[in-house]
Amino acid sequence: MSLKTVVGAAALCQIAGLLLAAPLEAEESEYGVLFEAEGVEETYYNCIACHSERIVAQQGLTREGWDELLDWMVEEQGMPELDAETSVIVLDYLSNYYNTDRPHFPKD
Ligand code: HEC
Repeated sequence: MSLKTVVGAAALCQIAGLLLAAPLEAEESEYGVLFEAEGVEETYYNCIACHSERIVAQQGLTREGWDELLDWMVEEQGMPELDAETSVIVLDYLSNYYNTDRPHFPKD
């Protein structure tokens, strides 16, 4: 084995170590406290323009309730209206993971 190979292997191990360590060091996901599932990206980026995603996560509503809340967000709070496709994705996400039983209510 040449010295180059040994050095190369050591560098690779270091990189692998960093990659493995990264998820453990990250305290919050890239979507903050929001539960990671289909639709989280659309929900996160459309909803954090004005307030923390925690405001979303602490709320537990039925699909109808979320629908009304989004109308209110548009009419009274100045949220740009979501296009039809995005609004279905966001409503599916919210009513699946932030319904009245609050399965993902933030604990801290
Ligand atoms: C244009 C700004 C804006 C955007 C974008 C926005 N909101 Fe809001 N939202 C507000 C404001 C302002 C309040 C606080 C209103 C108040 O309490 O008077 C609020 C409050 C809330 C609340 C708390 C309601 C309550 O009863 O206390 C929830 C839940 C919420 N928003 C969800 C969302 C969701 C979900 C999205 C994304 C689909 C979103 N918001 C996007 C402005 C926005």
